[in-house]
Amino acid sequence: MAPAEDRDLGHEFDPRFRVISVTARGAPLRTLPSMNAPIKNDRIEWLQGPSADGAAKCSSVPAGRKNPWRLVLLGAPGVGKGTQAELLTERLGACHLSTGDVFRAASKRKDCDQSPAMVAALDYMRRGELVPDSTVWEMVRERSHCILGCGGFILDGFPRTLGQAESLKELMETESIALSAVVNYELPLDEIVERLSGRRTCEQCKAVFHVTERPSKGGAICDRCGGRLYQREDDRPESITVRLEAYERSTAPLIQFYRNLGVLTPVVAKGTPDEILGRTMKGLDRANDRVKTA
Ligand code: AP5
Repeated sequence: MAPAEDRDLGHEFDPRFRVISVTARGAPLRTLPSMNAPIKNDRIEWLQGPSADGAAKCSSVPAGRKNPWRLVLLGAPGVGKGTQAELLTERLGACHLSTGDVFRAASKRKDCDQSPAMVAALDYMRRGELVPDSTVWEMVRERSHCILGCGGFILDGFPRTLGQAESLKELMETESIALSAVVNYELPLDEIVERLSGRRTCEQCKAVFHVTERPSKGGAICDRCGGRLYQREDDRPESITVRLEAYERSTAPLIQFYRNLGVLTPVVAKGTPDEILGRTMKGLDRANDRVKTA
């Protein structure tokens, strides 16, 4: 049986997680699951999609739960969505689904394995522009079982336009499932640019580091898997400017869209990743309370 505090969260207790205490709104200590046995999901079905041909399966998928977490992470490029998604995956046990990771995985395939739409999409990405909605939606739709599965999800980088948000809403409505919350990370522009220009990513396990803020102990080698760290092409200054403009024009309007739906959870993205994770968990706790009293 789950401890009372875990049942309070409204999400089924998962015995893989130990319990820690945090203070929420000065209220009595409330317990949240902490990372005891982190889930290492290689996300191969999400990253490769149907081209994985049914042969390649994720090494582990989150176990089905009665109330899985279904989250969207919003925020400007470089605000730290991917970093938080990794931490939240360990904490909540839902799959981290990043559309940017799908495009980067495709860019590593041989040219002849890429559809014309994917070749065009990678061009948009290099320039820092948004990939057209039709291409993004096609890619997400063919992986919809990752979204509709009963282990939950943490969407990072999708939806990014009102059109994509409407498509996601329709998909979820057909299965009578709803978003638990949409977390909007907020950070001043100068700190965003600093995070983007210092980012390094592992080409093997996709772990994200920062040259000064979150360096790998192995220098240019990933200290988790031994892979090589590289700087993303779209982290060059000229692409960063284009990405931030695209965010303001196309993605920022989603804040109001989700506020109107009553699921927006704003989180200040200053401080260390663990501090931001703590704030996020408190925000999710409040979102949960809202659902219970609705
Ligand atoms: P995508 O991969 O989604 O990139 P993004 O949204 O631009 O976000 P980033 O990955 O750049 O940043 P992040 O917020 O995840 O920050 P991170 O955790 O890495 O998309 C790339 C491209 O693909 C798009 O431009 C577009 O072309 C295309 N695309 C993807 N999805 C699309 C869609 N749905 N529609 C259309 N086009 C799409 O952190 C950044 C750095 O900061 C890291 O170095 C990290 O270590 C560091 N850091 C993180 N947290 C902290 C902290 N608290 N303190 C200090 N440093 C920190």
